[in-house]
Amino acid sequence: MDYVSQIEEAAEYLKSQLSGPPKIGIISGTGISLPEFRLDEQETIPFKEIPGFLSPTVSSHSGEFIKGTLDGHAIAWFKGRHHYYEGLSMRQVAFPARVFAALGGDLLIVINAAGGVNPDFQEGDLALITDHINFMQDNPLIGENDERLGPRFPDMSEVYDLSARDLLGGASRELSIECKEGVYLALPGPSLETRAEYDMIRRMGADLVGMSTVPEVIAARHNGLRVVGISIVTNVVRPGEPLQKTTIEEVIETADRASQKLGPLLRRFVGKL
Ligand code: HPA
Repeated sequence: MDYVSQIEEAAEYLKSQLSGPPKIGIISGTGISLPEFRLDEQETIPFKEIPGFLSPTVSSHSGEFIKGTLDGHAIAWFKGRHHYYEGLSMRQVAFPARVFAALGGDLLIVINAAGGVNPDFQEGDLALITDHINFMQDNPLIGENDERLGPRFPDMSEVYDLSARDLLGGASRELSIECKEGVYLALPGPSLETRAEYDMIRRMGADLVGMSTVPEVIAARHNGLRVVGISIVTNVVRPGEPLQKTTIEEVIETADRASQKLGPLLRRFVGKL
């Protein structure tokens, strides 16, 4: 089955489970349980029940589709993300974003855990992604372009939607939940960065570094979706300071703790859409 037929099959299945097209989508990853962010009329469908969906292999990713409403908006939440380092193709990683577009989606919110290379960042900070650097040395659009998905050479001048970013900034001020801002650089992983690599990433103009998000975001923009990106800063690397060991357990622990302020922020943001 070709890629577009797989996307359509998954979307048809989800449409049969949904009462209407979800305009807002969420893709979230590592340790981001968002306990404060319960949807109304929430229902869960394990990824493995959705045709064409892969179950994420990293144990912290539960891999489920959550549908529900918030402030009258239908929401499709893909909880548990696929990563390039799992050995998947960029196209496979981008599959949930494609399915969300096929469901008639409008705004995709992508949430990740990231390292901070901006010395003003603190562990546990939230940061709005203003732009990205694709350093994965791959791209989900490589290969024959299917015009049903989007154009051969999609514009990337405003990947992270400015008006949605303004609304999120407003929500952050209203709730006094600080949200920093920065450029996210994506590497394939799964090894964490060496000192020399963190220093290089900072010099290249990034504030955040991670192993995800960019594949889905490129595909989402190709599909014409609006995108908002939020990072939870789980570890900070500052110039001149010794590099601390980073473990996945600490990343998940910090992401989980910080996601407690992300839940209310997201709620307020969705209320403004
Ligand atoms: N590097 C890459 N990915 C990450 C990091 C990091 O320091 N922290 C959380 N995800």
